[in-house]
Amino acid sequence: MTRLVELEATGPRKLDPEDIDDEKGNVAICQCGLSDDFPFCDGSHRKTSDEEEGTTYVYEDGERKVVEEVVTEDDTDENE
Ligand code: FES
Repeated sequence: MTRLVELEATGPRKLDPEDIDDEKGNVAICQCGLSDDFPFCDGSHRKTSDEEEGTTYVYEDGERKVVEEVVTEDDTDENE
């Protein structure tokens, strides 16, 4: 399973003690890249629960699509 995620951040966000929710306890940090509240988990990872091993997905505008072929810049250089 592979997931294409486009992120615009250029550095990490550090957690401050005030980021810890006194009522909920620990804060979950998103590792799937789909959270609308990144870097915090908002439950969006549930969209990935039925992803299949060996398949690449892209999530755009709330929709999930299967990527048939991934072409990297290195791939295109080889074909020139
Ligand atoms: S791990 Fe990404 S939204 Fe939960």
